[in-house]
Amino acid sequence: MSRKEINIGMIGYQFMGKMHSHAYRDLSFYFEDTLKPVLKAIAGRNETAVIQAAEQMGWESYETDWRRLVERDDIDVIDIVTPNHTHAEIAIAAAEHGKHILSEKPLALTVEDAERMKEAVEKNGVLHMICHNYRFAPAVQYARKLIEEGKLGQIYHMRANYLQDFIMDPSFPLIWRLNKEVSGSGALGDIGAHSIDLARFLVGEISEVSGMMETFIKERPLPGAGQGLTAKTENSEYGKVTVDDAVAFLARFENGAMGTFEATRFAGGNRNKNKFEINGSKGSVRWDMENMNNLDVYFEDSPAGLQGFRSINCTEEVHPYAEAYWPPGHIIGYEHTFINLMHAFMKGIEAKESPSPNFVDGVRNQKVLAAVETSASERKWVSISR
Ligand SMILES: NC(=O)c1ccc[n+]([C@@H]2O[C@H](COP(=O)([O-])OP(=O)(O)OC[C@H]3O[C@@H](n4cnc5c(N)ncnc54)[C@H](O)[C@@H]3O)[C@@H](O)[C@H]2O)c1
Repeated sequence: MSRKEINIGMIGYQFMGKMHSHAYRDLSFYFEDTLKPVLKAIAGRNETAVIQAAEQMGWESYETDWRRLVERDDIDVIDIVTPNHTHAEIAIAAAEHGKHILSEKPLALTVEDAERMKEAVEKNGVLHMICHNYRFAPAVQYARKLIEEGKLGQIYHMRANYLQDFIMDPSFPLIWRLNKEVSGSGALGDIGAHSIDLARFLVGEISEVSGMMETFIKERPLPGAGQGLTAKTENSEYGKVTVDDAVAFLARFENGAMGTFEATRFAGGNRNKNKFEINGSKGSVRWDMENMNNLDVYFEDSPAGLQGFRSINCTEEVHPYAEAYWPPGHIIGYEHTFINLMHAFMKGIEAKESPSPNFVDGVRNQKVLAAVETSASERKWVSISR
């Protein structure tokens, strides 16, 4: 019997555009139990470049204005993989045209915009998700299962670092990620938002924060053609960096746990070190994206002499999502976290429920981002309202 199909329209086609395209293409290869995404149309402003992207990534058609894509009757889902300042306008228009929406993170530039997006999807009855893909690593899903089952007991600590180093060179250009009007914030919203999502997924809601932020390189050469993570420029004209290069904050969770968070793009030698450790009364877990198939676990009730962390390769049938891929020990990678997330979205569309993380989670995450910024600028603890 042929599978039910769903038509995707995607806006943007660079880093995340390529990642999402790949995930849609592979989804039905690994998962037979849900809708089959069809790469119907892609939107970008430069016609030559968007045609080339459509051909390379397998999209059936293209538009040079995202508004036309959102209006098309043959599109069921709008996928937003453009810089952060565009998310709100696109998502609200897509919701008003009755499209389901997958938005990249952070949801918006401000809490107000994030709330407008949430209101639009709720008012128009469309389904929605935000792309916090790291939750969907089998090892992270398994950590959540252990915590839900009480295997770690009462949670005392979450320690999360998201460390990168791609802008350490002062001649690295002033790409959109370093412009507050386009990105909202720097390391905080770009990578710290992922740690906040992991914290909310694994430990619970954050109730208050105390943070500090720093911009080490205040001016940078204006960008050339490239705006990605490996951009280069010959430009001798400079502009001001308007976001944080690094952020650190303390957090209290509603359930009494303590959190310590750090997000930086100045941690030399750390390319994409997204890691956390959680300690509870009965045990601990720790995970590191650069070794993403493994979850280190420690249990207080292990026999004396055998106590200590051990590493579980989360590729067995019992580990969430692992069965969809390869035999035990045959590991998966970064791209599979996106396939798993989109599988959850397709199942959600079938069930008419927006899976977590959705725009409600996006608003909550945005409130934590805003509270950290306020705390850093006013040098005080800031509470986060429900
Ligand atoms: N989930 C993750 O792990 C992850 C990783 C990287 C980026 N992101 C998020 O994905 C989004 C895109 O980031 P990226 O790294 O792919 O950026 P990018 O710079 O590589 O690509 C951005 C794309 O958007 C297009 N674009 C820019 N402005 C536009 C506009 N006004 N209208 C239409 N198209 C426009 C560009 O031409 C390009 O195709 C951001 O929100 C970012 O925070 C998420």
